[in-house]
Amino acid sequence: MTVPALPLGLLRDRLGEARNRTLELVAPLSDSAVTRQHNPLMSPIVWDLGHIAHFEEVWLLENIDGAGSGAEGLRGIYDAFRHPRATRDQLPLPDRATCLAYLADVRRAVLQRMDGIDPRADAPLLRGAYVFNMVLQHEYQHNETILQTLQLMEGEPYAGLGGGRCGMATGDGVERGEPGEPHTRSTDMIHFPGGEVSIGTDDRSQAYDNERPRTRLRVEPFRIDRHPVDNAAFMDFIAAGGYRTDAHWSEAGLAWRAGERAEAPLFWFRRDGVWWTRAMGSEVPVDPALPVCHVSWYEADAFARRAGKRLPTEAEWEVAASWDPVRARALLYPWGDEPATPSRANLDAVRPGPDRPGTHPGNVSPLGCYGMIGDVWEWTASRFLPYPGFQPFPYPEYSEVFFGDEYRVLRGGSWATRPGAIRNTFRNWDFPQRRQIFSGFRCASDAKS
Ligand code: AVJ
Ligand code: FE
Repeated sequence: MTVPALPLGLLRDRLGEARNRTLELVAPLSDSAVTRQHNPLMSPIVWDLGHIAHFEEVWLLENIDGAGSGAEGLRGIYDAFRHPRATRDQLPLPDRATCLAYLADVRRAVLQRMDGIDPRADAPLLRGAYVFNMVLQHEYQHNETILQTLQLMEGEPYAGLGGGRCGMATGDGVERGEPGEPHTRSTDMIHFPGGEVSIGTDDRSQAYDNERPRTRLRVEPFRIDRHPVDNAAFMDFIAAGGYRTDAHWSEAGLAWRAGERAEAPLFWFRRDGVWWTRAMGSEVPVDPALPVCHVSWYEADAFARRAGKRLPTEAEWEVAASWDPVRARALLYPWGDEPATPSRANLDAVRPGPDRPGTHPGNVSPLGCYGMIGDVWEWTASRFLPYPGFQPFPYPEYSEVFFGDEYRVLRGGSWATRPGAIRNTFRNWDFPQRRQIFSGFRCASDAKS
């Protein structure tokens, strides 16, 4: 059997593009803004910078020819396991200039090394260019992490998005909806009659180990919201006393709510009798039409219960996003198998937050759900567990060590997700109390066939 040749030119371009984004994100920041720890939940941004370089060094220089256990490489100050985020400001972190030089040095060595790679080489990590795609997606993921940190940063509005990219044409020549178009609120639900479907994938080129293997299963009939829950609906929940009505909340949710003194999504505040929010350092009135963002799993769960609904399971979410009943197969994205771009969905930090429904009219799944990719990560009811037949690859620290009851799965990516880091099968996970991530949700309910 012949091995498909590695697309080395394309990979070089993609590595260059990923790096440009990382540099572009941090360029407008002061030295203090990149070095300070803005919140115990997030690393100082210089840690992300050094860690991106270190991860690339481990996988594209140290492990690339080998079987790639990677364990020996996950060490030192950039070991995410040895040093939790809260303590990373106490590490002797190199400064910005040193990190930028480290990033450039590793990259130079990687590109040189790539010149010597036989495009038909067959090693577990090289097959399907997996290790390159993993390193690329790692940088993409830390691009979103950096945006989460910037959203938490106090003081000056962030100059990188609002100042430059926000509201600008996407430059891809594709028409987007008018931002001022009237908002039709839809509390409409989609019905799925139940049946035999598949979730997950057998792809070994882009997909992470936790997305494999493709799994056939029977899904019971269900309904799921056509759109993510919007700020208008969430303001109704607040105004109706949703945060004070214990019956809507799980026991763990009640404890979280009390500890956090939560009365509204993170970053919301009252001014002159209406809700405002802070988005990338700028204060703006809450726009009722936009998907709600920065809610914890507990808040999403309480909202759903008040509505007489529940959160979708991961399988239901994926069916709603991917299942094509006519072809009886799962699509890679709601719109089909064509790759994600900012013209197809609100991704890539083209604007500094979720967008109005209808802005991307083609972002609809065969079953009729809108906005499943982009805008906000959507909480699901599911805990982060392996699919039957899961095998860790290439290292247990990506997924396996996180499997269990503690984490809930989020799906679909947010406005801040890079297009190359999202697809219908992608599984994100976080603790149910977290809401500094760009998290929203849609609701589901049981249905009769
Ligand atoms: C998939 C977002 C949960 O941030 O912990 C980054 C991604 N893994 N570096 C995380 C990741 C290693 C991961 N999440
Ligand atoms: Fe990482």
